[in-house]
Amino acid sequence: MTSMVTNDIRGDISLVLNFYKAFGFESLPLDSADTDKEAALMALRHEIGDCRRCKLSKGRTNLVFGEGNPNARIMFVGEAPGREEDKEGRPFVGEAGQLLTRLINKMGEDLGFERKDVYIANIAKCRPPGNRDPEADEIETCLPFLKKQIAIISPEIIVSLGKISAHTMLGRSGPFNSFFITKERGKFGEYRDGEISIPVMPTFHPAYLLRTPSDKVKTWSDAQAVLKLLKHPAMRGMI
Ligand code: URA
Repeated sequence: MTSMVTNDIRGDISLVLNFYKAFGFESLPLDSADTDKEAALMALRHEIGDCRRCKLSKGRTNLVFGEGNPNARIMFVGEAPGREEDKEGRPFVGEAGQLLTRLINKMGEDLGFERKDVYIANIAKCRPPGNRDPEADEIETCLPFLKKQIAIISPEIIVSLGKISAHTMLGRSGPFNSFFITKERGKFGEYRDGEISIPVMPTFHPAYLLRTPSDKVKTWSDAQAVLKLLKHPAMRGMI
């Protein structure tokens, strides 16, 4: 009897260790409250699995779940993975991603954060063919998972990158072609999901900034507003 119980426990422990190992941990993340969020994100990744819920799954190489600090104060939300992201299974690693990384690191100079300290995800987790915009049905299918990610991470601010992300994060229901990021950027809006309410700063997508570098100054001004809110959380009620 005793040895059966011991064997069961051994089996359970080895299952847990293998689970963490599969997610790249070299040791068990036993300290701090981060463990809960990390575990919840891993469970969510597990729930998504080898997703075949929408047609984007047919053309993808890797699903891009998102990455960063589970305790991030800021979450950046893009549109969908591009070619490089699809290859690597990580968000924003191509040319636009390098620009985003520079922006984040510059934003963090004062407050002491860098890319690894924020969280980066996308509206759609699989690459649309030819880098087209994700379609409404694809967004609808994928969005519940991003919502769960946001609920777990619970960031103080969401920065939405580009039109598709802003439209979705702000919960707009009209067609994409009547939503203009040029008009919406730079003003805080609100992400709502049940009881959850998080300020959203819509700004330009870094891929657009690569094509239109003269608008980088506007994105930098949007970033300043984000930093101001991070430094003075009491302002939240005034937005
Ligand atoms: N563009 C996006 O919107 N997301 C990525 O991850 C990469 C490029």
